[in-house]
Amino acid sequence: MKVLVIGSGGREHALVWKIAQSPLAEKIYCAPGNPGTAQFAESVPLAAHDIAGLKKFALEKKIGLTVVGPEVPLVAGIADEFAAAGLKVFGPGRQGAQIEGSKVFSKNFMTKYDIPTAQSGTFRRLDEAVAYVKEMGAPIVVKADGLAAGKGVVVCRTEKEAIEALKLIMEKKEFGAAGDQVVVEEFLDGEEASILALTDGISILPLASAQDHKRVQDGDMGPNTGGMGAYSPAPIVTDHLMSEIDVTVLKPFIDGMRQEGISYKGVIYAGIMVTKKGPKVLEFNCRFGDPETQPIMMRMKSDLVPIMEAIIDEKLDGKMIEWHEQAAVCVVLAAGGYPGKYEKGIPITGLDRIDQLENVMVFHAGTKEESGKIVSAGGRVLGVTARGDSIKFAIKKAYQAVDLISFKGMHYRKDIGKKALKYER
Ligand code: AMP
Ligand code: GLY
Repeated sequence: MKVLVIGSGGREHALVWKIAQSPLAEKIYCAPGNPGTAQFAESVPLAAHDIAGLKKFALEKKIGLTVVGPEVPLVAGIADEFAAAGLKVFGPGRQGAQIEGSKVFSKNFMTKYDIPTAQSGTFRRLDEAVAYVKEMGAPIVVKADGLAAGKGVVVCRTEKEAIEALKLIMEKKEFGAAGDQVVVEEFLDGEEASILALTDGISILPLASAQDHKRVQDGDMGPNTGGMGAYSPAPIVTDHLMSEIDVTVLKPFIDGMRQEGISYKGVIYAGIMVTKKGPKVLEFNCRFGDPETQPIMMRMKSDLVPIMEAIIDEKLDGKMIEWHEQAAVCVVLAAGGYPGKYEKGIPITGLDRIDQLENVMVFHAGTKEESGKIVSAGGRVLGVTARGDSIKFAIKKAYQAVDLISFKGMHYRKDIGKKALKYER
């Protein structure tokens, strides 16, 4: 079978790498792909949001399975378009993807189906949003309704900061139409975990737990980013907590989608805050997380392709996934200046030295090839991912690999996985 993976980040490199190990995948394409995916998949010069072009390509090449990485094409309805053309596609349709595409939809859905989440209000008018901030007090969180490339959430320490954030989103239209509505919500205190689960719209199969590192600097300081590193499993997610999340979040999610008449197939990613009052949902995403997918794929033993096919055919019930007992840690190497402005086209050295290391993968995120050399082409450049007998050993191995790689301006967090160590003996 021919497989098409859509996207060009570390997540897509990890998915392509995993799919390439499947005996069912005879030929893989990645659109647009990157030099990392190109080691296993033929790159196709089509953007992830070019739905018409991708559909034409998939029909021409007789693609048997399309896997959609990013949220933008999902929210735009790529899965509906592909399914209507008789193509098998992994990912929810436009309606289901609203769970990520609209924070207002997501909050209303959580309230309707009794999924634990922060108390909130939804506003179209600035004065009403400001009044709510004054009523609730700080700290408080302001969220633009629509997609804003992960930048539409502002955690505010003071009422003043919250009012400034509201003005930026609603008056200055920093995120365009994504800011026509805002959600203002209660600040939740606790440790975060990413729970990704596969679903065919009927059954739900959780993946191994993971934890992301959203802030740019060590000790969770500085601005939010797309994610500076991740590890799996997340020891804070004990079996007990996982069952609670299953019962209070995942099952109500899929039952709710069915009640809404939405057949949700693909990944549901719940960003969870583990609070003193139990797990609460910060957000839902309609896709694999990045960088979480990098350590998760390194721990997955089972073939992912038949599971994806079972999801499309609504036959997930009874399917299991086998995992490596070992832990995996991913350290993101970012361009100087990221998450602000950064330069591109900077040569990367040391990638050839990674091959000598066992159970280490360097997943490409923002890279490209220029006259036979790999250069940077984005903010998050590489995801150095290692598997080891414990989180401690996986951390050690990942940073050993990091030490081999360099490019001008490169920066990364030195404390990825540290939070997990307090749970390890
Ligand atoms: P989101 O895109 O909604 O997950 O928000 C991005 C990040 O902002 C989350 O990963 C949290 O670190 C933080 N965040 C979002 N909502 C809240 C909240 N209600 N309380 C505290 N932190 C939050
Ligand atoms: N790592 C966060 C995300 O994928 O949204």
